[in-house]
Amino acid sequence: MKDLLKQIQNCKKCGLYKTRIMPTIYCGNIKSKIMFIGEAPGKNEDETGVPFCGRAGKILDELLDHINLKRESVYITNIVKCRPPKNRDPKESEIKKCRCFLEKQIKLVNPKIICPLGRFSSKYILKKYFKKSFEIGEVHGKVFKINNIFIIPMYHPAAAIYDNKKIDVLKKDFKVIINNL
Ligand code: URA
Repeated sequence: MKDLLKQIQNCKKCGLYKTRIMPTIYCGNIKSKIMFIGEAPGKNEDETGVPFCGRAGKILDELLDHINLKRESVYITNIVKCRPPKNRDPKESEIKKCRCFLEKQIKLVNPKIICPLGRFSSKYILKKYFKKSFEIGEVHGKVFKINNIFIIPMYHPAAAIYDNKKIDVLKKDFKVIINNL
């Protein structure tokens, strides 16, 4: 994990390193059975290097609390490690350049359950394992099993900031994690 941290800190593969303050790599337990993969760091994450430490992070904590898990007991990362300027969506080219780091994280942590959060990471993970594209609206909360890994895509926690019906959907979907642990 130490080598990986260095590689990410020194990475200049795409232009995002020029505008970010620091990369956001992961938080939590590297031995966890559960890995959450968000999209990209926002302002708070860029300033602290801690994934999901702003508003979306509060919602993620609430969802973890709903299933009696602490953020220290799970592994949380993002598909893109550096903040896209003005929180724009990560570009396909940035995801492509950054994905080697996520791949190494998946190998190192070897989780039983992977929960991609939001459409970008869900699309990436489902394509990686199933070579197919899926809409997040169709697959959230469903369990996809491959090579002894359970993949459970979720809406992005930030979706609940703008749509207050999403928190109930997210809570229901988070229960699926516990039922498969
Ligand atoms: N949104 C994400 O996808 N990741 C973070 O780390 C913060 C907000």
